[in-house]
Amino acid sequence: METSLEAEEAVQDIEAGTLDVRVKQVRYEGKGIHSYEFTSLTGEPLPPFEAGSHIDIHLKNGVIRQYSLCNSPAERNRYVIAVLRDEAGRGGSRAMHDEVAAGSIVTISRPRNHFALDGNAKRVVLIAGGIGVTPLKAMAHELDTHHVEFEMHYCARNRDAAAFGEEFSAMERDGRLHYHFDDGAKHNQLDIAKLLARPAPGTHVYYCGPAGFMKACADAASHWPKGTVHFEHFKAPEQPKRAPAPVSTESTGGCDVTIASTGQVVHLSADQSLADALNAAGVEVPTSCCAGLCATCKVRYREGEVEHNDFILSDEERREYLTTCVSRPIGKTLALDL
Ligand code: FES
Repeated sequence: METSLEAEEAVQDIEAGTLDVRVKQVRYEGKGIHSYEFTSLTGEPLPPFEAGSHIDIHLKNGVIRQYSLCNSPAERNRYVIAVLRDEAGRGGSRAMHDEVAAGSIVTISRPRNHFALDGNAKRVVLIAGGIGVTPLKAMAHELDTHHVEFEMHYCARNRDAAAFGEEFSAMERDGRLHYHFDDGAKHNQLDIAKLLARPAPGTHVYYCGPAGFMKACADAASHWPKGTVHFEHFKAPEQPKRAPAPVSTESTGGCDVTIASTGQVVHLSADQSLADALNAAGVEVPTSCCAGLCATCKVRYREGEVEHNDFILSDEERREYLTTCVSRPIGKTLALDL
């Protein structure tokens, strides 16, 4: 049983935007994939979340990583994430697999959602590539709860590499979940272009997976009506080598960023991220992924032109906001609504 002091601290953490949770269970879900079930320290329900939400996990070495919640949002007693061990990655998944065990306590953020289901959809197509299945699994649960018609396609190398086999078995049996294995029969592999050939009124598409898969989905859905196609990258895609920095910042060695509320001017050098420059000048901007994937560092701007390098903001949002970890001003000045 937790002491009242621990309970009090946990509540304070919630108010501060983070909370400590207990790792109740670590499960093998598929080749290289572990799921982690987190429960409250106090016995209180966890903060609510919607399908598509992710949480930050604060790892022991100070590293913060984002993982999508994959259980049903109707469950208030637990959060579940799943992590694919990536030996070639930045180390977050290895730390999760090696250091986070059942019984331990980890600090997490409150859930945030940049990949929400559209409540107006009459029918939904979910397309998952590999570990990109995690947010889509939560969506399948939510759609099921609200009796919205959906079909889910899950692409994986083979059945061993596909996660949540047990949990998905009912959905597979009733024909809403279709597996597509790279190592399987050719006719069973997913033809994304064919699947998305004809947009149907009221149908929305959601996809998440590795870079090649994301591009195939984007190409296949390019003719779908605006606002009906939704996606989330779980890793920053490989970028072609960046063109030289815009002339104004290159030639002057940087540019000046004005903080609208105080008039403070922060100098941004050509080799610095905007988030780093702001934080160094005492203008606090929270960051998390530092890769343009999570929008934690999103800030509204008032004046100036921006080179947007994120993978999360819509065109509409980009007219108002920028992500300070990867995006940069193009002109000599920029005013931020801070
Ligand atoms: S910190 Fe994640 S988008 Fe900037």
